[in-house]
Amino acid sequence: MGEGEGRSGPILVFDSGVGGLSVLSAIRTRLPDARFVYVADDAAFPYGDWEEAVLCDHIVALMGDLIAAHDPAAIVIACNTASTLVLPSLRERFSVPFVGTVPAIKPAAEQTRSGVVAVLATPGTMKRDYTRDLIRSFAGACHVRLVGAPGLAAEAEALMRGEPVDHGRIAEEIAPCFVEIDGRCTDIVVLACTHYPFLSEVLAGLAQWPVTWLDPAPAIARRVATVVGGAEVAGDAPSFAIFTSGGEPSAGLRALLAKSALIAGNTPAVP
Ligand code: DGL
Repeated sequence: MGEGEGRSGPILVFDSGVGGLSVLSAIRTRLPDARFVYVADDAAFPYGDWEEAVLCDHIVALMGDLIAAHDPAAIVIACNTASTLVLPSLRERFSVPFVGTVPAIKPAAEQTRSGVVAVLATPGTMKRDYTRDLIRSFAGACHVRLVGAPGLAAEAEALMRGEPVDHGRIAEEIAPCFVEIDGRCTDIVVLACTHYPFLSEVLAGLAQWPVTWLDPAPAIARRVATVVGGAEVAGDAPSFAIFTSGGEPSAGLRALLAKSALIAGNTPAVP
């Protein structure tokens, strides 16, 4: 029986932008009939630059409004930068089950053959104690290179909205992932930001050598299916997306939402 048992209402998927759509897509594969509210806190994007205490208060306050407005059966924090910071505060404050997204360091440590892995994250996730604890707990036998890329999430947003991206900048930001130590080279790069899977083709094209890009979305989707259990998350109402900026979505964004089977829902917006 899932923690969401006995609850009805949609599954709320939350990110600072459209990166969490990579997680939504994996959840849909598992739960094709579920109803979703996707929330992009684009008014506050990017989270990677925020001071920790301020970001924590901001997300807790916003989540209170979202829970009151949408009464979700479960909430997926489809953002590493938020999850590695606010999950304990959210769980302490609200009774809705939360599923977080944190860097896939444990699976990377289990799968690496060379023993050299990189964690490609935002500057915020890179600094978190949570991330460093994951490395200490699960990857003690590996060399782990933590890379906090300042501009990759914004590049992914641009790509997803059908805008041009700066390949030179992306190559520069991923370059520190490619490490060679005593003849052993990085063989796994953990995509520790939900925006990055959308750049996967660009990343593969700019890689200094072939690596496995580890996307945790399928594992998160499995966890969501367990948590939701018998909750009534299906329904006739359409799934929709809310943008906290409240702005009219651009043509590129509308196309992206259509691809994600979401309607722009800024009418039932955050109160
Ligand atoms: N998608 C978010 C993550 O997984 C971060 C993007 C941002 O900097 O806001 O970390």
